[in-house]
Amino acid sequence: MKKLAASALLIIGFVFGSTAAIAGGDPEAGQQKSQVCQACHGTDGKGNIPTYPVLAGQYADYMEQALKAYRDGGRSNAIMAGIAGPLSDEDIEDLAAYYSAMEGLKDLSIK
Ligand code: HEC
Repeated sequence: MKKLAASALLIIGFVFGSTAAIAGGDPEAGQQKSQVCQACHGTDGKGNIPTYPVLAGQYADYMEQALKAYRDGGRSNAIMAGIAGPLSDEDIEDLAAYYSAMEGLKDLSIK
């Protein structure tokens, strides 16, 4: 009986552990993978020039959709298509986790 309880816990732990991994990317891995992005989107994710969008504080699911759309052709932009082309779903989730955890803009100056 004890054995059964232990294996039940193990299964529960496994199921929850793995859903967490599926649902959210790994922000630390995302930081590593963001090196190439920083040239345009900035080390702080806020964009080096106004035409490079702010990524810091963006919703993770929005960012995942945007990157998959660039990669799969649903959203066309020559620069981002080239960048997103080689990214796996896991890369995209990690990058989204990293940028969404960053502090975003506080004052958008839009009134
Ligand atoms: C050479 C410059 C450059 C690099 C490098 C770059 N980007 Fe971009 N990124 C852009 C530009 C320009 C846009 C705006 C494209 C558009 O109008 O759709 C953009 C748009 C995006 C968007 C959509 C933002 C929005 O608000 O819809 C995301 C998400 C994004 N980039 C993520 C990344 C990630 C992640 C990386 C690194 C893997 C990266 N970018 C690397 C230039 C760059």
